Amino acid sequence: MKILVIGSGGREHALCWKLAKSPLVTKLYCAPGNGGIAEVAECVDVKALDFDGILAFCRAAAIQFVVVAPDDPLALGLVDLLEADGIAAFGPSAAAAKLESSKGFTKELCTENNIPTASYARFSDAVAARAYVTREGAPIVIKADGLAAGKGVIVAMELDEALAAIDDIFGGRFGAAGAEVVIEAYLEGEEASFFALCDGETAIELATAQDHKRAFDHDEGPNTGGMGAYSPAPVLDEATRALIMARFINPTLAAMKRRGTPFKGILYLGLMMTKTGPQLIEYNARFGDPECQVLMMRLKSDLLPALIAARDGTLKDVKLEWSADAALTVVMATKGYPGDYPRNTEIRGLDALSDRANVTIFHAGTKREGGRTLATGGRVLNVTATGKTVAEARDRAYATVEKIDWPEGFYRTDIGWRAIERETKALART
Ligand code: AMP
Ligand code: GLY
Repeated sequence: MKILVIGSGGREHALCWKLAKSPLVTKLYCAPGNGGIAEVAECVDVKALDFDGILAFCRAAAIQFVVVAPDDPLALGLVDLLEADGIAAFGPSAAAAKLESSKGFTKELCTENNIPTASYARFSDAVAARAYVTREGAPIVIKADGLAAGKGVIVAMELDEALAAIDDIFGGRFGAAGAEVVIEAYLEGEEASFFALCDGETAIELATAQDHKRAFDHDEGPNTGGMGAYSPAPVLDEATRALIMARFINPTLAAMKRRGTPFKGILYLGLMMTKTGPQLIEYNARFGDPECQVLMMRLKSDLLPALIAARDGTLKDVKLEWSADAALTVVMATKGYPGDYPRNTEIRGLDALSDRANVTIFHAGTKREGGRTLATGGRVLNVTATGKTVAEARDRAYATVEKIDWPEGFYRTDIGWRAIERETKALART
């Protein structure tokens, strides 16, 4: 089959790397791709939001299946457009992607279906929002309703901060994404992520994975798209996973089907593990990045038939096999990220590292130019390793990170610390 993957990050590199191994794939393209993806797929110079360009390419290249990985093209209806043109595509429709693209929509769906989430209120003007926050007091959480590249959430520990956030959002900081604001109660606990592959009716859980959102060691500094991830995530034991399927995933799928907007694709839950049990922080309608990278390293089954089954509505016949090994990825980012950063700095030493056992370097923001690898993004490389334990995967990943010569880059040195702490305790008990 001729396959096209949409996107240009580390997540898309991992998806292409995995799809390239499928015996069903005769030709793999990625639009627009990046310097690393070019090693496993043919990159097409069409941007992820250039829908006309994507459609024209699919027709010209006789593409049979499109995997839409990032949130923006999903929210804007790329899957709807392709399907309407007779091109099979993996990912939710725009109506189903609202689970990610509108926080207000998701909060209402939770209330209607008794899905555990923080209490909340929705506002479309600053005066009412300010009055509510003043009444409720801090800590409290202020969220722009729409997609804001992960930056639209302000966890305000003080009232002043909450009021400033309201003024900021209604002042236009996030454009149309901030036309409405969701204000919710502050939840305390450890965060966890959960991923399920859905076909509109059936959901199968994927292996567990957890990312690190803060930019710096000890989970300090600003929120980012994710500075590293590991799988499995021991915080989600078997009983908790069963509870998540029963209380969150299955009721959500049933509700979306009843509304006439069945959810097909990856449903990714952000959860807070509170004293009273898991509470939903957010839904995403796609694979996490960099969580996808560690999941692909552990997935033993062919990915393509599973994605096709999700699109076709035949997931109940699918079983995914996972390696018993752990995987861990360290994100190398350009100094300055998640704020401004220089572009086109050179990364040296990558080629010598390309075929190390148990280590794969996914590219998140690179291009190749005249034999050189240049960093073009905020998050740039995902150094990903497997091992018998999360600790072993971590040691292998960092041993490779240290060999990469890129003075303009930085990375966290403590990826996986929670899982490794749990592993160490479990070992001490045996
Ligand atoms: P979101 O974009 O909704 O995932 O929020 C970004 C981050 O804000 C989350 O990963 C949490 O760390 C934090 N957050 C969101 N909602 C809450 C909440 N109700 N209580 C505490 N922290 C939250
Ligand atoms: N790693 C977080 C995300 O993909 O949203």
